[in-house]
Amino acid sequence: MNCLQSWPEPVVRVQSLSDSGIRLIPDRYIKRSSEVPSTSLCSGGGGGGDNIPVIDLGELYSADRAIREKTLVRVSAACREWGFLQVVNHGVSHELMAAAREVWREFFHLPPEAKQAYANSPSTYEGYGSRLGVEKGAKLDWSDYFFLNYLPASLRDEKKWPSLPPSCRQKIADYSEEVVKLAGKLMKIFSIDLGLEEDCLQQAFGGEDIGCCLRVNFYPKCPQPDLALGLSPHSDPGGMTLLLPDENVSGLQVRRGDNWVTVKPVKNAFIVNIGDQLQVLTNANYKSVEHRVIVNSDQERVSLAFFYNPKGDIPIEPAKELVTEDRPALYPPMTFNEYRVFIRTRGPCGKSQVEALKSPR
Ligand code: OGA
Ligand code: NI
Repeated sequence: MNCLQSWPEPVVRVQSLSDSGIRLIPDRYIKRSSEVPSTSLCSGGGGGGDNIPVIDLGELYSADRAIREKTLVRVSAACREWGFLQVVNHGVSHELMAAAREVWREFFHLPPEAKQAYANSPSTYEGYGSRLGVEKGAKLDWSDYFFLNYLPASLRDEKKWPSLPPSCRQKIADYSEEVVKLAGKLMKIFSIDLGLEEDCLQQAFGGEDIGCCLRVNFYPKCPQPDLALGLSPHSDPGGMTLLLPDENVSGLQVRRGDNWVTVKPVKNAFIVNIGDQLQVLTNANYKSVEHRVIVNSDQERVSLAFFYNPKGDIPIEPAKELVTEDRPALYPPMTFNEYRVFIRTRGPCGKSQVEALKSPR
């Protein structure tokens, strides 16, 4: 039944390639020219161009009703048009955010043997990995990562989390607890914006029985950054993602029509994006938007992507309130466990998965 037990080829750590000092990257990492960063198509790199909306969450709880309403309108536009927002004043301790990011940076700087102890396989993806997808001979991304489960508690196994640096496990637990609370707040805000009961989206996700996992991405320096990608274009398969980016190095690009907009990280902010399951649940009122990561030759980059997902075995389908005669249900029900199988087999491939779900009409 399960055809995802092992990798189709020996695993090469991108960090070791980068550290070896090669000037030319192996063919496996060279993307087709239509896929690689074309600077002429990018904007928002700080030159006053587009940036994804930055929202002060505190304003949603302002005593001034006009401020509350204006901010909710901005959240709404961000979710419907961009699929992305940056949130500040979100309640998560800035010290904890920095500490979590830095402990992971240290992890990736441990000697190879220390990391190798956590080498992952495609059966669960948990642990230290260097590719997504199991297609033999596939082009690869210029990144390594660490993937772990936080919820449900039955899937949490702290022995699979790094034991070094010594504070790593505790930081993961503290950080995840805070991020889950923030995600719960956002689920309420989104429900209200959509005209639903405050707890509607959360209930549709399975109430307390949600799934959460963390993928820490490590993008080593790349000697030919114009030929490779740190992470190929994809939309996130789950509910929503709360990304803690590197404070010093940008790299994330979000699709906006035919352009890629480089996100300029705001200090102490989370980058939040809508995943495929929220697109389905909101009957595409909210968009799960394609994004990718570019690399550079002089700085490595670390990011923590926290995925907030529905319970795996409940069918996710458009909320009844969002299905009307004018806007029929765009998607049939499917559980997240079923959905995840194709993602894990094929690796990042744009928006083809959620598009393929659409009901024939
Ligand atoms: C992801 C992702 C972006 C980044 O992990 O799904 O899109 O900036 N990461 O690392
Ligand atoms: Ni992503």
